[in-house]
Amino acid sequence: MNYQEFIQAQVQELKSQVGSGHALNAVSGGVDSSVVTLLAHRALGAQLKTIFVENALMREGEPQKLVAVFARLGIPVEVVDARASFLGALKGLTDPEQKRQAITDTFYKQVFVSEARKWQAKFLFHGTILTDIEETVAGIKRQHNILTQLGIDTEEAYGYQVVEPLKTLRKDGVREVGKVLGLPDEVVHRIPFPGPALAARIVGEVTEARLATVRAATAIVEEELKGTGAFQFLAVLLNDYATGIRNNKREFGQIIVVRCIDSVDAREATVRELPWEMLHRLTRRITAIPGVNRCLYDLTPKPPATVEYI
Ligand code: XMP
Repeated sequence: MNYQEFIQAQVQELKSQVGSGHALNAVSGGVDSSVVTLLAHRALGAQLKTIFVENALMREGEPQKLVAVFARLGIPVEVVDARASFLGALKGLTDPEQKRQAITDTFYKQVFVSEARKWQAKFLFHGTILTDIEETVAGIKRQHNILTQLGIDTEEAYGYQVVEPLKTLRKDGVREVGKVLGLPDEVVHRIPFPGPALAARIVGEVTEARLATVRAATAIVEEELKGTGAFQFLAVLLNDYATGIRNNKREFGQIIVVRCIDSVDAREATVRELPWEMLHRLTRRITAIPGVNRCLYDLTPKPPATVEYI
């Protein structure tokens, strides 16, 4: 594919769709939404408002990091604090699909509706990619950002139209487009991170305390494994507890799973053979997180497993 031509065609398309109106896009810090932000900003300039939704489910230091990256690219990003809405919507939910649905609804029915109203935007840009659509349509997993392909008319339901400029690309293509658009390497090569964010990595109920645990484990995993060059690595908090010993006392502790995979486009994945020494270091650091007394390494490829746990 000629990515220059792809970009030109998309920019034209976005311009003609939006005309002289306003559009909104939400950037999460992942490659897909970052590339959409650059494309849409190139097409629309000041007609576009870019927001970062602080949903309580993000990794350590995310809003600050992201606002700084885009400020360097001349793109202002407004942080919208929606933590209470997301935590409220997730309260008491343990079923994976219900959790995903609650996150989707909070984004699309609450946050985007009110932000689009404020900005009088008729369009919302989205980083949906081909793999998201295929897996959702095949019924494997409801990706948080798939609406129109499931027959939801967003204009009727929410009052704005969803536009998906990357829906014909896979992750490798999105990265190429990002490079051509001048997205910094640190973002182009950022490991994928799911829309439902850390909620995709908590089995069972999502609470502030459980988020803090998985957030701490995620920071450790990302720091320790960033040099591996693997496609994706992550930490998951299980819903089980196990007996352990700490300071000579019995402790019923939480369990963190570490996952490190190689893949081209996330449709299939194999597990990286990490050196024992690295696994031991991860275990030492992760079991130092308060309340965690076990660390497991997941050896399951995709399929039969998926990458995330919900
Ligand atoms: P799974 O778990 O479906 O993940 O094997 C495949 C790839 O997609 C990411 N992922 C998501 N990305 N919204 C996204 O934007 C989602 O709802 C979602 N679920 C999973 C996951 O991190 C992996 O790279």
